[in-house]
Amino acid sequence: MLLTEIDHVAIAVHDLEAAIEYYAEAFGAEVEHREIVESDGVEEALIKVADSYIQLITATRPDSPIAGALEKRGEGLHHIGYRVDDCAEALAAMVEAGARPLDEVPRPGSRGTTIAFIHPKGSFGTLIELVQE
Ligand code: CO
Repeated sequence: MLLTEIDHVAIAVHDLEAAIEYYAEAFGAEVEHREIVESDGVEEALIKVADSYIQLITATRPDSPIAGALEKRGEGLHHIGYRVDDCAEALAAMVEAGARPLDEVPRPGSRGTTIAFIHPKGSFGTLIELVQE
C-alpha cells in the first residue's frame, strides 16, 4: 500500500477570508499554515484535522487553473491529496495502472512538499494530488 494518509481535502472558494471565518465560527478551526503558490496562481489556508488538512484554496490571478475551475464549476471540492512516502514511486505506479498524469515528474508543492497531480479522467473523476512530505 503506497498511500499513508489522506493529506488534504482541497475546497475551492471565491473568498478565502470568508471561508476561513466560516470554518472558525462553525468548528473553532484555526489556520495552521497560509501560503501563496505563485506558479500555480493559488493561495491556500490549511486547517489541520488530526494528521490531515482541510485546504481552502482560491485564485490569485484570473488565468490560473483554480480561477478556471471556479468559473466553470463554482465553489466546492476541487481535489484530494493522498500522502505517500515517495511521490515519484507513487506517480509511476499510477501511470502503470493507467492514470493520466498532469505532472510528468514530481515538483515542489506548498509547505515544502513534493507533489504530482493526476488528471480526473482515468482516475474515476477525481483530481488526485500525490503529496510527499
Ligand atoms: Co492540494
